[in-house]
Amino acid sequence: LWLAVGIRHRQPGEPAVENGFIPYLGCALQFGANPLQFLRSRQKKYGHIFTCKIAGQYIHFLCDPFSYHSVIRQGRHLDWRKFHFATSVKAFGHDSFDPRHGHTTENLHQTFLKTLQGEALPSLIETMSGHLQDVMLKSDTLTARENHWEVDGIFAFCYKAMFEAGYLTLFGKELGEDKCQARQAAQKALVLSALENFKEFDKIFPALVAGLPIHVFKSAYSARENLAKTMNAENLSKRENLSDLISMRIILNDSLSTFNDLSKARTHVALLWASQANTLPATFWSLFYMIRSPDAMKAARKEVQKILDDSGLKPDPSDPTLNLTRNQLDSMPVLDSIINEALRLSSASMNVRVAKEDFLLHLDNQEAYRIRKDDVIALYPPMLHYDPEIFEDPYEYKFDRFLDEKCQEKTTFFRNGRRLRYYCMPFGSGVTKCPGRFFAMYEIKQFLSLVLTYFDLELLDPTVKVPPLDQSRAGLGILQPTYDVDFKYKLKSQH
Ligand code: HEM
Repeated sequence: LWLAVGIRHRQPGEPAVENGFIPYLGCALQFGANPLQFLRSRQKKYGHIFTCKIAGQYIHFLCDPFSYHSVIRQGRHLDWRKFHFATSVKAFGHDSFDPRHGHTTENLHQTFLKTLQGEALPSLIETMSGHLQDVMLKSDTLTARENHWEVDGIFAFCYKAMFEAGYLTLFGKELGEDKCQARQAAQKALVLSALENFKEFDKIFPALVAGLPIHVFKSAYSARENLAKTMNAENLSKRENLSDLISMRIILNDSLSTFNDLSKARTHVALLWASQANTLPATFWSLFYMIRSPDAMKAARKEVQKILDDSGLKPDPSDPTLNLTRNQLDSMPVLDSIINEALRLSSASMNVRVAKEDFLLHLDNQEAYRIRKDDVIALYPPMLHYDPEIFEDPYEYKFDRFLDEKCQEKTTFFRNGRRLRYYCMPFGSGVTKCPGRFFAMYEIKQFLSLVLTYFDLELLDPTVKVPPLDQSRAGLGILQPTYDVDFKYKLKSQH
């Protein structure tokens, strides 16, 4: 009997359905074990679109990149808010941001665009640059010296530097005199404890998105609540140099929502997570692949040196105050390609929309399929990123894959002789495309530029294998390495 419960039968005009063998879970286990392999095998069997039951939900996977547009453009049949807002509520425990639920009238999308893009960028870049150099050279987070190799894991190194700098850039510093040692130690302790809490919470993030209640995970729950405590109204009011994003969100929480204090604090935790969870592994993969490829290192060093020379900037580790402007960061196509290639290989974010009503989805090849109300339509960009027709030797890291013959950004990629509109999608697509993507690229470029400027770096084992991707996060963003890789660094001799 259980086999019959909750099983969908394909109706005329609908995509082929796989219900899986396990009630409720459906195909979840097979999908989870290796999403790319699972989807490829179904694509072979069914074609451009098919439906799988995964954890109680019917998901239509659209696999033809030339048809992506029909899902990505903001059609009247598709809803992006439903899924996104519900996921955030499940993971962070705040009240819903969906205006239809009546807790707030804030247009979150607009808040993000205003505070993370355009005119907001120069000050984010400048603040981040200051904090990155403090972390790398001034505080005791890293202890780089001349003539002495320091050994660390690349992921551990990126985590420390980017978390601290990114956290302080968004959430500012505690008010007070910076020179006081006791205060500095307290600041440091606060950031370190935020980092530990973040790690603890982030570990179980996939389980929360899958629908498990957070109370099952005692230490992750207290980690999340500890973070929320540091971000309640009273504690935030003691901080200065908050980013526009957080200051504006405080005002809008207070003026447009009926959230209580805890709910408000949890919305800030959600933003801390969004700003770090993908950036940290993305920075790891960018640095790892760059160090591992002598050609990439050489080209990157040359590019950074040229920017410094052209603008007469002289790095001085005893007074580390380099500040690359937005324009300078915009003219670093080699670093862009180094990062984009790392993102291509490590990103696995699912792009999701929910059907508002029954409708016909038109594909590029003139076929049309019936979609039922409340069904989910998903794109899985790794199908593009690992397609050998689009990217030759797709499992290889080629630092110049996104450079054209003039050493500028390459944007022409083909499949079956047809130019692709979508070929690299680590930041999602359409209205739900990551609003922090410009800042994310700038901060990773800043990080790489500073590392190259101030340090000599080498892998402990130059022939080290690429660590496998941790697939437990497939669907959620940039995947982490299953283990860290050791490298050594020392302060570059300035003479
Ligand atoms: C959402 C990727 C860094 C802020 C997203 C989404 C992806 C993504 C895939 C979901 C898009 C969708 O559902 O279609 C990344 C990657 C990053 C990165 C790969 C780093 C390499 C950042 C940073 C910030 C940020 C640094 C902020 C400072 C956000 C926010 C959302 C989001 C606020 C939610 C947007 C919404 O629901 O409207 N990001 N992100 N992200 N990201 Fe990022």
